[in-house]
Amino acid sequence: MNILAVESSCDETAVAIVADGRRVLTDCIASQVELHRIYGGVVPEIASRKHIEAIYGLADQALDAAKLSRSEIDAVAVTYAPGLIGAVLVGVNFAKAAALTLGKPLIPVHHIRGHIAANYIAYPELEPPFLCLVVSGGHTMLVDVQDYTKMEILGGTLDDAAGECFDKVGRLLGMPYPGGAAVDKAAQTGDENKYNLPRPKPGQNPYDMSFSGLKTAAINLIHHARQVGEELDIHSLCAAFSAAVSDTLIPRAMQALEQTGYQKLAVAGGVAANSRIRRDLLAAAERLGAEVYMPPLSLCGDNAAMIGAQAYYEYLAGNVADMSLNAYATKTILGEMI
Ligand code: KG4
Ligand code: ZN
Repeated sequence: MNILAVESSCDETAVAIVADGRRVLTDCIASQVELHRIYGGVVPEIASRKHIEAIYGLADQALDAAKLSRSEIDAVAVTYAPGLIGAVLVGVNFAKAAALTLGKPLIPVHHIRGHIAANYIAYPELEPPFLCLVVSGGHTMLVDVQDYTKMEILGGTLDDAAGECFDKVGRLLGMPYPGGAAVDKAAQTGDENKYNLPRPKPGQNPYDMSFSGLKTAAINLIHHARQVGEELDIHSLCAAFSAAVSDTLIPRAMQALEQTGYQKLAVAGGVAANSRIRRDLLAAAERLGAEVYMPPLSLCGDNAAMIGAQAYYEYLAGNVADMSLNAYATKTILGEMI
């Protein structure tokens, strides 16, 4: 089953064609990152306009690259939530028009479910159930993936997402948007023990997390150094910050592995590209004898291949939409009725 998949929830316009949920025939992406960089973050209105400009050409490009004709497309999938509402709408409207014109099913896909499904592409043998640590720009949570379309959230951030905090710290340090990758790179040559940053433990649920205190502590440290004219060791601050994020995520993931009894831990989302988190996860999971699934960096960030992968399983579960499909800025991954 060849699924034409569309992703436009933030600042990447992407169209992919994925066969049977696992085989990527083509994965085209038009990134707007450079455009938003001068503003230090995504400008929603500009993002929507750029999606409109890019999406039709990108779809043609995807068909050409896969050497497929339109009649060989069996379904059209699209990220319908969550994201910047105007940006998501562009993808949803395009997908509706494409499905209607081709006379093929329309499959709505939750963006975070898509991130999780990036693992199905990277690891063709991976099947639920497994535990997934989702760490993206807007979401941080531990998900019990019981089946392809049946999930339970064990816990997650009560405030900021890890990615948001990486970006904020990067921005204050004068790094280009989005700051996560730059903070990660700077951290490589830093001393993580030079600065002391908190590892908050909020609430009753052992799997819940909080990053706003850590973010504020890092911001205060930077402001204080500037006010008193103290030279900041940026590399060490980045190392300390990355260590604090990792120390928040990894023990919870390990506890959840033990509680669920799963032997499989997958990671998903843009922050899953972080080298410190990847290294710590591998070491911690090895101690528990668990298998770790980490998509390559190209599949960690936003892309349409992951949407095409999840769409296949949504289709098998009967989750198709009609022309009344809408876009949503927020929605849980729990698969409530659309
Ligand atoms: O999943 P994603 O592409 O977009 C959302 O769905 O939110 O994640 C983007 C986030 C950004 O916050 C970016 O700074 C972060 O992923 N990121 C990283 C790294 N690469 C990307 N954060 C830490 N270390 C990295 N190497
Ligand atoms: Zn994403």
